[in-house]
Amino acid sequence: MIEQDFIFKKVKLVNGSSSWESPSNIALIKYWGKYGVQLPKNPSISFTLSECKTITKINFRPKKEKENINFSFLFDGSLKPSFNKKIDQFINRILTYIPAIKNHFFEIESYNTFPHSSGIASSASSMSSLALCFMEIEKQINPKISKDYFMQKASFLARLGSGSATRSIGGPLVYWGTNKTYDDSSLFYGTTMNSVAPVFKTFQDTILIIDKNEKKVSSTIGHQLMKSNPYAENRFIQANENMSKLKYVLLKGDIDNFIKIIELEALSLHAMMMTSSPSFILLHPNTLAVIKEVYEFRKQTSIPICFTLDAGANVHLLYPHQFFDKAQNFIRDKLLKYCVSNKFINDHVGVGSKKI
Ligand code: DP6
Repeated sequence: MIEQDFIFKKVKLVNGSSSWESPSNIALIKYWGKYGVQLPKNPSISFTLSECKTITKINFRPKKEKENINFSFLFDGSLKPSFNKKIDQFINRILTYIPAIKNHFFEIESYNTFPHSSGIASSASSMSSLALCFMEIEKQINPKISKDYFMQKASFLARLGSGSATRSIGGPLVYWGTNKTYDDSSLFYGTTMNSVAPVFKTFQDTILIIDKNEKKVSSTIGHQLMKSNPYAENRFIQANENMSKLKYVLLKGDIDNFIKIIELEALSLHAMMMTSSPSFILLHPNTLAVIKEVYEFRKQTSIPICFTLDAGANVHLLYPHQFFDKAQNFIRDKLLKYCVSNKFINDHVGVGSKKI
C-alpha cells in the first residue's frame, strides 16, 4: 500500500462510539531519527507487550454550528490540558486521510493499566488506541472495509501520533521502516512478523522501574538531534544490518545472537544521545549497576537473560518464559535494591490491540 491508498474522502455525518485497548511495545532494533512527517530514518522492530496498555473510548457526533473545538479529553477521569496539544496535532495530521473527522466532535477518555509515574512511555499505547478508535468513524461511513485494511490504516494513523505507536497494533513482533531483508516492510505502517521461533512468542519482559520521573529530554527532541549527530549515518547503517541479522535469529530461535544484537542496540541508542549536540544522558547510575549484574548473572549461570533500554533509565529484562522462576529470584535477590520503591512490572509478549 502506498500513502495515497489510505485517503478516504467520503464525508458523511454519523454518530457512534468505540473502545479499543492497545499495548505498549519494546523495541529490539531502535527507531531513533526521523524525517518528513513521522518517517523513520532506519527500520525498527519490537516485541508487542500485553499488560502495559492504554484503554481508550470515544463517542462521536456531528459537530454543532459555531462549535470551534472538536474534541474533549479525559485521562483517568480528569482533564489533562497538557495532552491536548498532542491530540490536536494528531487530529490535524489524520484529517488528510479521514476528512470526515473535521465535521465531528469527539469525546475521548483514556486510562493506562500501568502507573503514570513509572517512567514507562505511553505514547505507543495511547496513540495506537486512539488511532483505532478514529478508524471506527471511517468504518461507520464505509462498513465494507476489510479487517486487514482497518488494522493497517490504524497503524498508518498511529504513526502520525507517535512513531513507535505504529508497531503496537499487531504482535508478537512488528517491524516498521524499509529494510532489504524484509520485503513487505513499509515506511508508513507496521507489519506483523509471521515466521518466528516459538520461544519468542512467549518471551518475558520484566520492567525495572529505576526512575519514575518524566524524561528530561523528550523522544521528539532526541529524534531531532539526530539530524546533526556526526555518527547518525553510521547508526542508520548499523540499525539496518542489525535488522537483517535479527530476522534469521528470530526465525531460528538463536538466543545467543539475539542477546548480542539486542544489548548492542540498547547501548547504541544511548550512545546517540550522549553524542548529540547538546548531549544528554538518560541513564541513571542504577541502570548501569543493573546492566553489570545482568552480565555477571549470565556469566555465572548461563541463563539467557538480557537487557534493553527505552529512551529512559528503566531497564527491560528480556528472557524466555522457561526461565521465569529463575529470573524472578535473580530480580528479588540482586536487582530490587536498584528499583524505585522496589517496583518492577512483569510483562510478556502479546498479540496487539483488541476491540472492547
Ligand atoms: C527510544 O515513538 O516516542 O522508544 O515519533 O516522536 O513520538 P515520536 O517518538 P517515539 O520514539 C521512540 C523511541 C524509542 C525507540 C523505539 O521505540 O523504537
